[in-house]
Amino acid sequence: MIVDRTDEELRYALPCKWGLVDEDVLPAWVAENDYAWPPAIEAALREAVARGLTGYPDFDEGGPVGQAYAGFAARQFGHEVDPRWVIPTADVTAGVRLALDVLSDPGPVVMPIPGYTPQLAIAEITGRQRVDLVVDPDAERAEIDLDELDRLFAAGARTLLLTQPHNPWGRVFTRAELEGIRDVVRRHGARVVSDEIHAPLVLDGSPPHVPYLSLDGTADHAVAVVAGSKAFNTQGLKCAQIIAPDPAANAALRNVPMARNDSWSPLGVVAAVAGYTDCDDWLDALRVRLSSQRDLLVELLAEHLPDARMRPLEATYLAWIDLRAYGHDDPAAVALEHGRVRLAPGHDYHPGLPGHVRLNLATSADRLTEIVRRMAKALV
Ligand SMILES: Cc1ncc(COP(=O)(O)O)c(C=O)c1O
Repeated sequence: MIVDRTDEELRYALPCKWGLVDEDVLPAWVAENDYAWPPAIEAALREAVARGLTGYPDFDEGGPVGQAYAGFAARQFGHEVDPRWVIPTADVTAGVRLALDVLSDPGPVVMPIPGYTPQLAIAEITGRQRVDLVVDPDAERAEIDLDELDRLFAAGARTLLLTQPHNPWGRVFTRAELEGIRDVVRRHGARVVSDEIHAPLVLDGSPPHVPYLSLDGTADHAVAVVAGSKAFNTQGLKCAQIIAPDPAANAALRNVPMARNDSWSPLGVVAAVAGYTDCDDWLDALRVRLSSQRDLLVELLAEHLPDARMRPLEATYLAWIDLRAYGHDDPAAVALEHGRVRLAPGHDYHPGLPGHVRLNLATSADRLTEIVRRMAKALV
């Protein structure tokens, strides 16, 4: 069911991931997968294009995306979502920005570090200060330190930008962890923006994804921002969703001036509806493929880079790898220059941190094998 695209196809299909590297470079950086779309999405998009769907989307409440997401959340996560909670937006980045702008008090935003690079700038863009909650690179398990979170809120922070499952930690938060976070947030009357873009990508052997909003006592202080785009590789089609169950927050988000949230695309709606409605089997197959890629990566690292350190990858197709043992401050730069493989540098996610990379394993087994072989050639 999961079809690998050829290099030539990928250079056209993924202009950023594959288009921005020289032809002899293997790309393992941007978070896009190298697989063909699910057939149901392809068919829905073909029909939409054939029938000329290029007008503005309908800006009504809930709508087809709301219905489709509610069904998906119930089947995939056991989470009952009212379609009216669902507000389309262009992408997750825009949704997080909008939620901070509209709902958060002016105080600082807590950002767990390492964190998704563009979000390092998002607090400042909304006129707020970013305060970092740093995970020790030597910690056995990447976790949010609740005492530190408590201290940051006590010092004036008003919002936690949570990413779960987390990129680049590759972790799925357990229900107990999320309840711990919720309790600290509630104690301070603070807010949570929960970026759950990677929720459909929980790998074999990991605990299930628990939507933050499925916990009791979260609806009044949290919104989630979700999308099918990482699961179904439709990043460029632009239709993510904000889930806002609290009536006042929901109304505040819906009633923003149009210029603040009018940029999602009707083809993005088509892809989201098809993905959320007709692709469960394909998604199962994707998770099997990504889990086997994850297992292959562990084997390849043991063989070729035995001093690399990687915590168990529970979700996402993005592996956070500690290569400090090989003595390069910027192993991604060395791997590009000497191995002709493009990885994402760790310091983009954790400013100032040497010796780490993020590797995208959502490709074929052959390419992944070659990626690690080239890394070893460059780094050892
Ligand atoms: C955690 C996280 N949030 C948001 C995004 C970006 O999403 P979008 O393209 O919908 O803005 C990514 C992309 O990799 C991501 O990993």
